[in-house]
Formats: sequence, structure tokens, C-alpha cells
Amino acid sequence: MNILVTGGAGFIGSNFIRYILQNYLEDSVVNFDKLTYAGNLENLQEFKDDKRYSFIKGDVCDYDAVAGASQGVDAVVHFAAESHVDRSIHASHEFIRTNVFGTQVVIDAVRELGIKKMILVSTDEVYGDVEKPRKSKDGDPFKPSSPYSASKAAAESLAIAAIRTHEAPIMITRSTNNYGPYQFPEKILPLFITNVLEDKKVPLYDGGTQIRDWLYVEDNCSAIDLVLRHGTLGEAYDIAAENDPEVTNREVTEMVLDILGKGRDFIQDVWGLRPGHDQRYAVDSSKIRALGWKPSVSLAEGLKQTVTWYQGNEGWWKRVKSGEYQEYYKKQYRV
Ligand code: NAD
Ligand code: TYD
Repeated sequence: MNILVTGGAGFIGSNFIRYILQNYLEDSVVNFDKLTYAGNLENLQEFKDDKRYSFIKGDVCDYDAVAGASQGVDAVVHFAAESHVDRSIHASHEFIRTNVFGTQVVIDAVRELGIKKMILVSTDEVYGDVEKPRKSKDGDPFKPSSPYSASKAAAESLAIAAIRTHEAPIMITRSTNNYGPYQFPEKILPLFITNVLEDKKVPLYDGGTQIRDWLYVEDNCSAIDLVLRHGTLGEAYDIAAENDPEVTNREVTEMVLDILGKGRDFIQDVWGLRPGHDQRYAVDSSKIRALGWKPSVSLAEGLKQTVTWYQGNEGWWKRVKSGEYQEYYKKQYRV
């Protein structure tokens, strides 16, 4: 299969490309990415001379560029997005442009070129938060809380409309929070791990009582790959580790501190930095499990592997944490 991956220089996209190139020797991948602050070609350095891999710099809002990159591909996996909730609260414009308009452009290119399959990579955050013990489920109404999740819900609506109106060959995946190697250190886990490695405190929002269902990135990649090969066109699949017991942000922070051999004094409680903060995400992943998927690592194991990766790749995250990142950090954390 020849796959166009949008946003392949980001966290999940680069892990997905690695997953495909390592597991399917016959497949090839075109990585189409604008290289925003979150895009980093270093993530795929090892494939730079691999004939099965090519990179095209471009914007998903540019129809001609997307159509040009899509020539001859069998499938499009659309990851490209602005992905950080906190940034969407400061400024929403790019989220609407890339996540909403850009998704329509990709859908149009898929239809007009007659590409056989497209996956829209969405998020469980479209459901909004959900009270214990309930889990959100495919078919539930969307109730997004942040400009980020609203833009992803809008993108899904465009995909659902294209499926209904044009029989566009689209499938949707909605995963819970991912973690693992190459995650940009604005998201909680890489931020906290790298802060501790720099001997800095970790800013835990709003009491740390919130619940996220952490999914190791490679497990999300295997689920997306399964949908790509065996999913039913027009369907949406919720992907979750369904960690049992559920863990709060404070608990996951303590797990990281324990792995790093650091005390609770590294936690700095901060309040009010995320207005509209969702309390709990939980989704029912029985539909993807019925296709034969299950996560391969426990949270404890995945966190250990992730910490080891950041310990062994200091050059990567130190480069990422320099430059524009410093301005972002000062603005977000008011330091
Ligand atoms: P990321 O921010 O690490 O990477 C996004 C990538 O998209 C970057 O390489 C960036 O350069 C590229 N990009 C941004 N705007 C673009 C544009 N206009 N044109 C082309 N490329 C552009 O994001 P991520 O965490 O890897 O998330 C990937 C996808 O998965 C997103 O659609 C996100 O909504 C979804 N998702 C993420 C998570 C998570 O936990 N990270 C969970 C569920 C769903
Ligand atoms: P994040 O990693 O930004 O992912 P998302 O908002 O998409 O779930 O945040 C995960 C949780 O961690 C969320 O409840 C907010 C919290 N959080 C902190 O406590 N401190 C931080 O510095 C960040 C970035 C997030």
C-alpha cells in the first residue's frame, strides 16, 4: 500500500510512519507536513535514505499541494492538526484553519482523485467530559469544551457529511490521550518528564483530580493501522486502553516521579491555567477490540519506556525546548 500521511512529522504521525515502514516492507509512505513548531523531521531521521519514504513540505489548507502529494496513493491518513488545548485557548485561529478547513481540503482531494480510503484521526475529546462510571460511546452527541476539541468535532462533522452526501470513503478514529517517544514537551507527560530531568518543578493544574485514559502511542498506531486495513468505510472507532483502575493526573505524575526517583516536592500545584478544564475522559473501545485490537503495554510499563526514551534522547528535547518554546512556556505558565 502507498500511504499519504499528513502531519507525519509530529508525535503520533511520525510513530505511525515508523510503525508502517517497520511492519510492512512492501508499503511506502509520503509524509506531507507543514513543519509548524510541532513538526520535526528529526523524528524520522532513520528513514531519510529509505526509498519507501518521502517527505513533502506543504499545508493541508493548500488544495493543489495536497492533490499533488496524493497522486498515486492508495490511502490517506490525516493526522495534521493543531493539537494542544492550552494553545487553542490563547489563540484559536490556526486551529480552525488547519483542523477544519484543512480537513475539508483533504476530503476534497480524496474524492476528486478517487483515493480508496481516508482515515480522519480524531480524538475522544469531541465527546467532552463524562461522569463516572459512564463511558462515551460511538453515536453519543459531541460536547466539545475547548476550541481544540470543537475544531476536531467540526472536522468530524465535515467527514460525516461527506460520507453521507458523497459516499466518501472515510473512516474516523478517536483515541484517548497518547504518550510515548517524540511527544512535544507541551503535553503533560513529556513536559513533566523533561522538567524533572532539568531539575524543575512540574505544574499540576487544578488539583490534579482529572482523569485521562493514557494510551501508549504504538498501541494507537496499531489500532489506526487495523482500521486502515480492516475497518468498514463510513464507520468511526474509539480507541482506548481502558486503564483499570482509572488514574488521575496527580497519580500519573506520581508514577513518573517514582520512576525518576524524585519526591512529591517536585509537584507545583497551579490553578486557573486551563479554563473549561474537562474532568474525566473515558470511552468504550469495544468496537475496535471486536476487530482484534488490544493494547500491548500496561501504563506502568509504557511510562517506564517513555521515561527511558527521554533520558536517552536529551539532544532531541533540549533542541525542541529552546527557541519559540521558551516564549510559549513563559506565557502559559506565567513565569
Ligand atoms: P502534533 O502537534 O505532535 O503534530 C501535528 C503535526 O501536524 C506536526 O508535524 C505539524 O507540523 C503538522 N501540521 C500542523 N498544521 C499543519 C498544516 N496546516 N498542514 C500540514 N501539516 C500541519 O500532534 P499529535 O499529538 O501527533 O496529534 C496528531 C493527530 O492526532 C491530531 O489530529 C490530533 O488531534 C490527534 N490526536 C492526538 C492525541 C494526543 O494525545 N496527542 C489524542 C487523540 C487524537
Ligand atoms: P494535555 O497533555 O495538554 O492533554 P489534553 O488536554 O489533550 O488532555 O493535558 C492532559 C491533562 O494534564 C489535562 O487534564 C491537563 C493536565 N495538565 C497539567 O496538569 N499540567 C500541564 O502543564 C499540562 C500541559 C496539562
